[in-house]
Amino acid sequence: MIHFALSEEQKELQNTARQFAQKEIAPVALQYDRQAAFPGEIIQKAHAVGLMNLTCPKEYGGQAMGLVNAALITEEMNAACVAIAGMIGINSLACGPILIAGSEEQKRRFLLPLNQSGKTASFGLTEREAGSDAASLKTRARLEGDSYVLSGQKCFITNASYAALYTIFATLDPAKGSKGICAFIVPREAAGLSIGKVEDKMGQGSLNVAEVILEGVKVPKANLLGHEGEGFKIAMETLDEGRVNIAACGVGLARAAFQAALDYSKQRIQFGKPIGTFQALNFMLADMAAAVDSARLLTWYAASLADQGRRFTREAAQAKFYATDAAMRVATDAVQIHGGYGYTKEFPVEKYMRDAKLMQIYEGTNQVNRIVAGGALLR
Ligand code: CAA
Repeated sequence: MIHFALSEEQKELQNTARQFAQKEIAPVALQYDRQAAFPGEIIQKAHAVGLMNLTCPKEYGGQAMGLVNAALITEEMNAACVAIAGMIGINSLACGPILIAGSEEQKRRFLLPLNQSGKTASFGLTEREAGSDAASLKTRARLEGDSYVLSGQKCFITNASYAALYTIFATLDPAKGSKGICAFIVPREAAGLSIGKVEDKMGQGSLNVAEVILEGVKVPKANLLGHEGEGFKIAMETLDEGRVNIAACGVGLARAAFQAALDYSKQRIQFGKPIGTFQALNFMLADMAAAVDSARLLTWYAASLADQGRRFTREAAQAKFYATDAAMRVATDAVQIHGGYGYTKEFPVEKYMRDAKLMQIYEGTNQVNRIVAGGALLR
């Protein structure tokens, strides 16, 4: 039997996250957005109540949840603010390579102190000339004695300015393509690591996104994740999980935008009636509700495959592109339903629209996610 009812434990998780998000995040979301402020205090509070490091096992300081339960929490947090929730949730992406390929010793040495302290990390894959084509990255790794020396420049790195450690992807030999790439754990204090330009973005103001510059950064051999040449697969497996997470973020934003539009369409009177009763808008609302519900089902389905230990690359990619496209469409329609007011900063829907755009771009553009999903169909 297929049933969609949540267990008591899941309802409790959802409720905890909803209360936290509506009390600690939603009231300050716009102010943080305008100031592009770092939500350090909110991150610490989320950590204190167990809303961080959701999928990391307990022995490394996490909450040991499956992806379905994590998606319930992620939806709630993102319904309040995608950017602040993104800063709270970044470790799931940044530490993914360590969980996937790290040795017991690496997990204890790096994850445990990070997760116990409530500090955050960053995932360093993208470069100026290697975005969608991640395998063409140019950051070099050279083995010198007992250390690797890393040189290059990463860009669009979420949380770069505040990370306590970085998972960095670099190549031993660019001629080898994806087979030359290695993954490394690089502590913040490593000599030669610095932060470059911080991006000034259209939306998601409090999501810090910056360059990471690596100038002869020496890391011991013990910081290599897995074996030489395994870095690309580690990155792709990390992104499989990351894309389920972003799909849940999309569901959260879409739900919030839909709710705002529904509430407004019941209150706003024109021609003597609430505007939601006019068929033109009523059909828009029906489409928006269907988009939210279907995005959620695709997200839960991909998450449940992952929780069962089954391959979920295609389902993660389709949930990601579908849910974040839905978020963009629903947010745009929410602005439309608000009319002129929707375009002002007095109402939350303009922020939803700006924030949604980035979700179609990060963790693989939605075009790349269609390549992943479409490619899997033919294999
Ligand atoms: N799991 C395991 N292995 C995988 C895999 C997966 N999901 N996907 C690919 N691989 C393996 C392949 O099997 C192949 O291995 P073999 O050679 O041994 O067969 C190898 O990796 C190379 O695969 P491809 O030939 O498919 O690789 P490609 O160069 O054609 O690229 C791509 C594929 C899907 C386009 C990939 O480059 C990609 O995902 N690009 C987008 C990058 C991205 O998502 N960046 C986001 C950065 S993080 C971010 O935005 C987040 C943030 O900060 C908020």
